[in-house]
Amino acid sequence: MRDKDTTPVVPADEEGIARAAAILEAGGLVAVPTETVYGLAARADSAEAVARIYAAKGRPDFNPLIVHVRDVEQAALYGDFSDPVLSDIAQVMWPGPLTLVVERRADAALAEAVTAGLPTVALRAPAHPVMRALLEAVDFPLAAPSANRSGFISPTSAEHVLASLDGRIDLVLDAGPTEAGVESTILRIGPDDAWHELRPGPVDVAALYRDYHDREMPVGQAPAGITAPGQLASHYAPGKPVRLDAAQAEADEFLIGFGPVTGDVTLSASGDVTEAAARLYHCLHEAARSDRPRIAVAPVPDRGVGRAVNDRLRRAATPPD
Ligand code: TXA
Ligand code: MG
Repeated sequence: MRDKDTTPVVPADEEGIARAAAILEAGGLVAVPTETVYGLAARADSAEAVARIYAAKGRPDFNPLIVHVRDVEQAALYGDFSDPVLSDIAQVMWPGPLTLVVERRADAALAEAVTAGLPTVALRAPAHPVMRALLEAVDFPLAAPSANRSGFISPTSAEHVLASLDGRIDLVLDAGPTEAGVESTILRIGPDDAWHELRPGPVDVAALYRDYHDREMPVGQAPAGITAPGQLASHYAPGKPVRLDAAQAEADEFLIGFGPVTGDVTLSASGDVTEAAARLYHCLHEAARSDRPRIAVAPVPDRGVGRAVNDRLRRAATPPD
């Protein structure tokens, strides 16, 4: 049973979207489905609204937020898209699960806390029809991190959002489980036209690089200052020890299976990495609330979006400081 003074959850229909737009207008916080995970949205042009995101999540203030926009035209109000390759990638890949980190425009009407003092800004035009309708309904961009307490498992359903933010935010728009299941790929191009994949995700950066350059993407370390500050070693933590590459469970372990390894739940019985990405956080949430004190996870191949799954699993398995 939920208490009376908890966060309302409403269907993401026309009425729900209008209610969400009014709350955002007034500087409030709304959890909104995107094609990757549920985001915790606030107007990106208001210092007070953005401060509420950091407070609700308990997020360190050195960790900047992604700014969600309708399209590259709106993005160009906040970031520098004068590089033709960059603007072409935005045209071709948006709307979709790709975040581009670009130079922040000097005249960008964004709260300072959105970019956490960096000279760059992370922008993305999401594909989910509900998030798109919301961005059409308001005349400001939306800052939106994943809708979970900082460091914990990301949400792919309205229920997951409530599991960590109930009572701390103004509204949840419910449109069922999200499709991709892992957060957007983050790409930084530059300086010197070098490409840096700051976070693996649904969009394959190496394949995109081949499309533009007709050769393999050079592997190299991103120079200092060109990392995503939020990519902390410990993240997505279910609050219990996690053992990776497990072929079977020990007595006190909840096993998350994949392919031939059948567990208490499975990422994908057929061994499909795309399905594994879509089910990853659901399985981690199930493991977190089971009565077993430890979690084991079957190996997942490191190809395609399986790289993003393994990236998140490694962080989930790293104990917090
Ligand atoms: O799929 C997604 O991207 C979801 C949905 C809601 O859009 N959002 C999301 O936001 O994953 P969040 O806040 O959980 O992750 C944002 C990441 C962090 O790792 C942050 O450090 C990085 O983006 N980031 C933001 N601005 C940056 C910048 N200027 N330079 C480098 N990294 C940046
Ligand atoms: Mg997050």
